[in-house]
Amino acid sequence: MIAQRPPMGWNTYNTFGRRINEQLILESTDAFIDLGLKDAGYEYVVIDDCWSMHDRDPITDKILPDPEKFPHGMKYISDYVHAKGLKFGMYSCAGVRTCADFPGSFEHEYLDAQTFAEYGCDYLKYDYCNLPEHADGPYLYRRMGMALRAVDREILFSACNWGMHDVYHWIRSTGAHMYRSTGDISDSFGSFSRIAAEQEKNMCYSAPFCYNDTDMLTVGMYGNGLVGGGVSGCNDAEYRMQFSMWCMFSAPLMLGCDIRKMNAETLALVTNKNLLRINQDPEARTPIVIMNGEDRPDHLANRIYFKHLSNNEFALAFYNLHDQEGGVRVLLNDLGLPATVGVSLALTDVFTNEPAGQYREVIDLKVPAHDCKVFLGKYVWNA
Ligand code: GLA
Repeated sequence: MIAQRPPMGWNTYNTFGRRINEQLILESTDAFIDLGLKDAGYEYVVIDDCWSMHDRDPITDKILPDPEKFPHGMKYISDYVHAKGLKFGMYSCAGVRTCADFPGSFEHEYLDAQTFAEYGCDYLKYDYCNLPEHADGPYLYRRMGMALRAVDREILFSACNWGMHDVYHWIRSTGAHMYRSTGDISDSFGSFSRIAAEQEKNMCYSAPFCYNDTDMLTVGMYGNGLVGGGVSGCNDAEYRMQFSMWCMFSAPLMLGCDIRKMNAETLALVTNKNLLRINQDPEARTPIVIMNGEDRPDHLANRIYFKHLSNNEFALAFYNLHDQEGGVRVLLNDLGLPATVGVSLALTDVFTNEPAGQYREVIDLKVPAHDCKVFLGKYVWNA
């Protein structure tokens, strides 16, 4: 059984785009071990678009790996990844060609699923570019979902149709384990904060075995990468916000930075035990969203997310989306806890692991610009 919890791993696309090769994948696999990412729960090493030759094999019709990028083929890589106790992911597309114009799996779904299984693949990201005119997109996901279940291997099906055609309503039935709900993220505060604001209303569809994928993280990229083109990246406070939002959403945690060069701040963030506990909570509850202010495309209101966790615990996050330090405030009554009942919320700061007080009526925090405060909490009956 796979994807009981939100999948965790790394994907080549955000930083490397077309610039992928065997050495990058092997070194990044080593980094999973050396940095303790595997111990923290990251397991999927995923090669995105641009791994194959431009055309299929004229005789077998199979997609072929590019021998310049992957001289020993894909099985060699998956063996390496598996020997480290990790899982191996690859990429194809529901259309005739992938988004970067390599062969897609349209009308080759069963052949390709078998090929991926032969490679030892454990995860398939399945994109949505270059569909023939009049093709039925949801049906194409159904077909690949069926093909992946027909092979002799358990393969996580990561759909990527960017939230089109009300994906929330039908994707779970295709057998997909996660599904992209937005266009491509870019390495900027505006991009990830808008994705979060846009997806809040859809998080109710996300649950164990099939998670809303708000895209690969840009955490730790600092403007270095494909999606950083023309964008300056984020600062550490903004990356804290992004990462903790994805955790509050129970979104898949697919790292997108160059993990071989990850700095200490990024490593501490993405391996923070409290945040990962929130992300991986088995109940995967949708957060309650409280807004402070008016939410418009040009002006994002501050947010408070409250998420029930298993064992009667909860997580509570305060986001300041403004350019200045300010108050982010919640009346506990608005969360469902009237002051008169005599229950307080006892908080622990997820970043410092220190107790952060007990609150009975209102929590009003000063939060620096583009930053957050995130807590784990328990209920306390007042004497
Ligand atoms: C699409 C996807 C991206 C990435 C690229 C690859 O844009 O949304 O995540 O896979 O294709 O070309």
